[in-house]
Amino acid sequence: MRKKVFVRTYGCQMNVRDSEVICGLLQKAGYRISATDQGADIIIFNTCSVRKHAEDRVWSLVGSYKGSKIIGLVGCMAQNYKEQAFARDANISFVVGPQDIDKIPVIIEKVLRGQSPSGDNPLLFERKLWETDSSIRPEEIYHMGFYQDKEHAYVVISEGCSNFCSYCVVPYVRGPLRHRKHKDILTEIWEAITHGITKVTLLGQNVNAYQDNQVDFAKLLCQVNALSGLKEVDFFTSNPKDASIDFFKAIRDLGKLAKRLHLPLQSGSDRILKLMNRGYAAKDYLALIDSYRKIVKGGRLTTDIIVGFPTETDEEFKETCALVKKARFNAAYIFKYSSRPGTEAAKIVDELKPNELEKRHKKILDLQRGISKELRSR
Ligand code: SAH
Ligand code: SF4
Ligand code: F3S
Repeated sequence: MRKKVFVRTYGCQMNVRDSEVICGLLQKAGYRISATDQGADIIIFNTCSVRKHAEDRVWSLVGSYKGSKIIGLVGCMAQNYKEQAFARDANISFVVGPQDIDKIPVIIEKVLRGQSPSGDNPLLFERKLWETDSSIRPEEIYHMGFYQDKEHAYVVISEGCSNFCSYCVVPYVRGPLRHRKHKDILTEIWEAITHGITKVTLLGQNVNAYQDNQVDFAKLLCQVNALSGLKEVDFFTSNPKDASIDFFKAIRDLGKLAKRLHLPLQSGSDRILKLMNRGYAAKDYLALIDSYRKIVKGGRLTTDIIVGFPTETDEEFKETCALVKKARFNAAYIFKYSSRPGTEAAKIVDELKPNELEKRHKKILDLQRGISKELRSR
């Protein structure tokens, strides 16, 4: 009987795509992919470490399975905890970081063999299995043809991040920024089109930093836009420090591109932006969105904001609110600062009191809700 695997996904779109890659690899290796944990022999948690809350949810769910199934911890938490994950929860049989997902079928096979007394070397697998050391992914994993959606596909254009924003765990768990070759990206999209895909979202932690020889992000968008069979092209996430006029013009001119931009602001205070290591000041951000709006007439604009970065004063918080009022985002994801061990910001001990954090979070959420509602009603 072929074993059944259920992959449960947390975190960003990158993980959604990685889970498809994992399912594709496992299907090819002879496993059945299950849509729920019911009846699954193996459960894989593809996890996120960006905020503590994201990790807590996974730890509590992993603990709830109590030895009845084979549990794998993969993705960003796997990289964050490495072999320590086994000490944290004895239910976990294998731990695989994001750069090593191609090895999951082999690892599961070893786990399965290790559990059987007739396995070739059961002793070897008394030590639990973990794999978190690779720095690159083999190109083949992107060509498994497994898609969750009939029409829409996520396409990874770059992996990792080298920006080291001081609060962020991503560069530590995903490694440095690496660009896929533009030819490989186009081949992957072409294959997706033959599977019936008509919409793609290009993915990277910082898509507009894309560079493969002469091909930058605006050029890549142009090449993707030209693929016949595709109807809609979108991308995620852009970084203000790498946004250019050419990039905005590409959004305006390319017919298949969604006329929208997600441009994370994080804070409206220059002192906090500097502490965050974001590489721009509030006035640079405002100038940038001003040119975006002049070039892409009627284009949507959304953002991410972190409230309660260590040492953020009430005045500095108000600067963020003032920028939100000025910018008039269509929507904003507003996060409470979460200290991530190992990051630069985690060394700043002066964190906001939880009730003050709560207050600021609610205040800016209400402010943005009002703006979003007003823009929607127009
Ligand atoms: N690469 C993307 C997004 C990465 S994480 C970018 O730079 O925009 C998505 C969002 O999570 C970030 O934009 C930020 O607002 C938020 N975030 C990241 N680390 C965080 C932390 N430690 N605490 C709270 N929010 C965080
Ligand atoms: Fe994290 Fe900054 Fe990289 Fe985004 S750009 S993933 S916030 S380090
Ligand atoms: Fe989370 Fe990893 Fe994405 S930390 S936000 S799943 S890159």
